[in-house]
Amino acid sequence: MSDPRPRAIASLPELRAAIAALRRAGKRIGFVPTMGALHEGHLSLVRASKAECAATAVSIYVNPRQFGPNEDFSKYPRTLEADLELLAGCGADLVFTPQDADVYPPGFASWVEVGAVAEPLEGQFRPGHFRGVATVVLKLFNLVQPDAAYFGRKDYQQAAVIRRMVADLHVPVEIRVCPTVREPDGLAMSSRNRYLSPSARQRALVLWKSLERAGEMVAEGERDAEKILREMRRIILAAEDARIDYVAIVDPDTLQPVETVQKSALAILAVKIENTRLIDNRMLGESGE
Ligand code: PAF
Repeated sequence: MSDPRPRAIASLPELRAAIAALRRAGKRIGFVPTMGALHEGHLSLVRASKAECAATAVSIYVNPRQFGPNEDFSKYPRTLEADLELLAGCGADLVFTPQDADVYPPGFASWVEVGAVAEPLEGQFRPGHFRGVATVVLKLFNLVQPDAAYFGRKDYQQAAVIRRMVADLHVPVEIRVCPTVREPDGLAMSSRNRYLSPSARQRALVLWKSLERAGEMVAEGERDAEKILREMRRIILAAEDARIDYVAIVDPDTLQPVETVQKSALAILAVKIENTRLIDNRMLGESGE
C-alpha cells in the first residue's frame, strides 16, 4: 500500500482553514514553495522540514510573473499527479495548488523589489525575474504563514534575495537553505534537466566539472579568480553548443565579483546546453564542498 496522498488544496478559504487548524493545534509549520515537476532536490527540502516541523506544507505553482517573455513558462513541465505521489511518499501534510486568479487578483499592482543582491548574475540575464520570485514568495508566506521555509542551494541567488526580503520587511519566517542534491555523476537536480536529450544530458556535466576544477585549483593554492574563470570557461566551452550566460567568482554575501579568492568565495554559473538554461554553484576555499 502506498502512503496516503497529502491534502491538495486549491482555494484560499480552504487553505486558511487548514492553516488555522494547524495553528490551533500548536503545530510548527514548515513550508516548501515549488513550481512542481518535483525531484529528489525538492523532496530533500520536504524531509528537512519534516525533521524540524510538526506539519509540512508544499506549494505547487508555476508563477507566470517570474518568467521573461522569451522564457519557458508555457512549456515548463506540469506533472501534478506524479508530484502528489512523490509528496505522499515523503509525508508532506498539505499541498497548496493555487489558481492564477487567486494569486494575482484583478487589479493586482503591488510588487516586491529587492535591491543590490538581486541585481547581478541572474538579475542581469533575467530582468524582472527576482521581482516576480520575491513577490510570489511573500504572497505564499502570507497565505501559508509558515514558521520556517526551505530552499535549495542550487538557486543560491534566489535564497539570498529571499533572505534579504525577509530581513528587510520583517517577515516572521526562518529561512533554511539546504544542500544541492546531485545526480551520481554530479549534475545538479533540476526540473529543467528533463528538457535535455540524452546527449545534451551528458554535455551538461561540464557545469559541475568546471565547478569541481575551480575547487581543485583553489585547494592547490590558486587564488587568482581570472585564472580560475579562464579554466572554467575552457571546460564549459569544450561541450558542443554550450553557451555561457555567466561564469563568475563572487563574494558569497554580496554576490559581487572578487579578484582574489580569500577565505571563501562562490563560483556560480548559468549555461545553456541545447537551449536549456542550467544554473549551478559551488563554494570555494575554506567553506568549499
Ligand atoms: O525555486 C522555485 O521553484 C521558485 O522560484 C519559487 C521559489 C517556488 C517561487 O516561484
